[in-house]
Amino acid sequence: MNKSDFSQRLLTWFDAYGRKDLPWQQNPTLYRVWVSEIMLQQTQVATVIPYYQRFIERFPSLPALAHASVDEILGLWAGLGYYARARRLHQAARIAWETHGGELPATLEALMELPGIGRSTGGAILALALGQRYPILDGNVKRVLTRQEAIEHWPGQPKVEKQLWQRAATLLPRTRLADYTQAIMDLGATVCTRHRPHCPSCPVKKTCQAHLQENPEAYPRSRPRKRLPLRATCMLILLNDQGEVLLERRPPVGIWGGLWSFPECPPQTEAALWCQEQFGWPIGEVQHWPPLRHHFTHFTLDIQPVIARIRGEARQVMEPNSQVWYKMEPMYKRGLPAPTLRLLKRLREPSKGE
Ligand code: ADE
Repeated sequence: MNKSDFSQRLLTWFDAYGRKDLPWQQNPTLYRVWVSEIMLQQTQVATVIPYYQRFIERFPSLPALAHASVDEILGLWAGLGYYARARRLHQAARIAWETHGGELPATLEALMELPGIGRSTGGAILALALGQRYPILDGNVKRVLTRQEAIEHWPGQPKVEKQLWQRAATLLPRTRLADYTQAIMDLGATVCTRHRPHCPSCPVKKTCQAHLQENPEAYPRSRPRKRLPLRATCMLILLNDQGEVLLERRPPVGIWGGLWSFPECPPQTEAALWCQEQFGWPIGEVQHWPPLRHHFTHFTLDIQPVIARIRGEARQVMEPNSQVWYKMEPMYKRGLPAPTLRLLKRLREPSKGE
């Protein structure tokens, strides 16, 4: 991609379609732009506008904000969410008031020392308010750039992020930094959206590798999944002569707390022997079913189902409060964890393989 092509196309697009009448674009001082950028973190433009207007009316300058009470600031923030942003805004105003007089500092280093201002927000403030030549890399811009280059790695990886910062810096135009910065953010927010991007109206589609692959939504790549620890268990599907299945109520804490499930024994146990020892019933035929995998948030459970038929009569349970002979018809589903239900359905309709 030719870098000046990219910025020029974006600027031409901005002239035609970009947003130029947002409240913080009128009289864009460091203070006004800073407040807007903090509000716009994780919140959409349309939501921010009325909050911004009320806020700026009440606190038109940094000294006004620095001398306000945190309660009043939070009152004006109520409904916007992520309230830590409001607290940090207040802290930053006080620090700036004490160390830099009545205005925010006009260098990236000094801005980044203030609470709530990272490299991207600092760059955006300086570019939008003063036309300084700094790149930004918020979520929208990351999406635009990872699509342009079809970057195959998750952009949260430090190495990839560094590469994206370099790319963002290389693409900056020589002039019109405020417009360019607004343009690339607007492109990400309105055209190069996460889902169903509007590629036909994109000014930089010709150089977009993800578009050329006809798969823009595949970028940015998602975070690689951590491999979760694997646990194994053997579930015993004990059947009596009536075709009923033994279910046990699980202890109140732990996985499936209080729900009804099959008795479990450690994997590799001799199931028939274990059953006989545990319950005292003689076991006839034993069948091993294909294993089942269940995903929890913190681990994966491999389940080996074993069907064991009891020889002779077994109608009584030893612990009536925590054991039942479950009838397959009608099939009650309440209080059954997903794998129990899957196995019961498989038992009822073996042909479905489920
Ligand atoms: N998101 C963060 N800053 C923004 C801005 N200035 N305009 C639109 N969306 C934004």
